[in-house]
This record gives sequence, C-alpha cells and structure tokens, in this order.
Amino acid sequence: AGGDRELLLNGIRDVPDHPKPGVVFKDITPLLADPRAFSVLTDALAAAVTRHGATAVAGLEARGFILAAPAALRAGVGFVPVRKAGKLPGETVGESYELEYGTAEVELHADATGPGDRVLVIDDVLATGGTAEASVRLIRRTGAEVVGVTVLLELGFLGGRERLLETLDGTPLESL
Ligand code: PRP
Ligand code: HPA
Repeated sequence: AGGDRELLLNGIRDVPDHPKPGVVFKDITPLLADPRAFSVLTDALAAAVTRHGATAVAGLEARGFILAAPAALRAGVGFVPVRKAGKLPGETVGESYELEYGTAEVELHADATGPGDRVLVIDDVLATGGTAEASVRLIRRTGAEVVGVTVLLELGFLGGRERLLETLDGTPLESL
C-alpha cells in the first residue's frame, strides 16, 4: 500500500559525508527503531520468500542479518549467514570481489546450503553490487539454487543492477 511505502521511506535518512567526504549514506536505523515500519519491511521480505518458493534465506553481514533473520522466521524458513572473511567457525567457501580500492571477501559455511535448497539473498542496500554478486556465486558453489536477490533499496547510480545482470542470468533482483 502507498502508506507502507511512505513508512519505509520515512525510516531512511541521508547522512552526508559518511563514511567519507562526498558520499551520502542511506541510514536505515530510524526504520529499525520504528516497530511499525520494521514490521512492514519484514512482511514485505517474508512475502518475497514465499513468492519465490525459497527454502532458506541468506542474510549478508551485518545489516542484511537484521532484515533477513525476522523475514526468514516469519516465512517459516531457515536463516543462513554470509559473513565477512574469518568470522565463521566451520569449514567455509569464500569469494573475493573488487572494491574501489582493493578487494573484500565473503564466506559461507560449506554445509549451510546445498543441492535442493532454494535460497533468497536479502540485504539492506545494493550499491556497486559486489557483495551481492559474490554472495550469489558462493551459494551456487554449494550446489544450491539462488531464487532471487531482494534488497530494501538500490542506489541506481552506482550500477549494481547492471553489474549483477550477467551473474544473475535471469534470477530476479528486486528492491522494495
Ligand atoms: C554495505 C551494505 C551491503 C553492501 C553494499 O555493507 O549493507 O552489504 O555494503 O555494497 P556493494 O553493493 O557496493 O557491495 P557494509 O560492507 O558497509 O557492511 P555492514 O553491513 O557490516 O555495515
Ligand atoms: N547506505 C548503506 N549502505 C551502503 C551505502 C549506503 O549509502 N553505500 C554502500 N553501502
């Protein structure tokens, strides 16, 4: 509904010059602090889980965890963390990706997903798309199917959707 959209938009504030000069950071903490907005967001994400027939939800550290975990719970499927390298205790698979300067790496427990699993990837913000792209590759390497990538918001001017296009190869990318 239109009112829901307003509730979500009102919960996202622009913070100029974070984390460095010239960047306008989209801050979702007001949304998280408002239980009505957080619930609307969780409902929308849970609906995406159900619509895609997902059997698991992967949340991307750290803000993706906050959105993905309640959505998984509400939809009645499990939650799987994709973490920054070095954090997961078990056997992991990892994927590196390019940043503006240097590289970053994300990891997944090797047994967290596998053949027969249908995984929805959830994060707060799609920026350059590097994190989401690496996460999709990781999950697929375990033999699982990625049925979609759903984010709260997409910074269109950074070209993340275009970057992800080839990797996704028809898998839907949605921003709320
Ligand atoms: C942010 C955001 C996404 C990612 C988007 O996370 O939450 O995960 O960056 O950027 P990209 O599309 O250019 O890859 P960040 O690395 O700031 O980590 P945090 O959630 O732990 O704060
Ligand atoms: N907000 C939140 N996360 C982000 C942003 C942003 O503006 N850019 C890259 N990750």
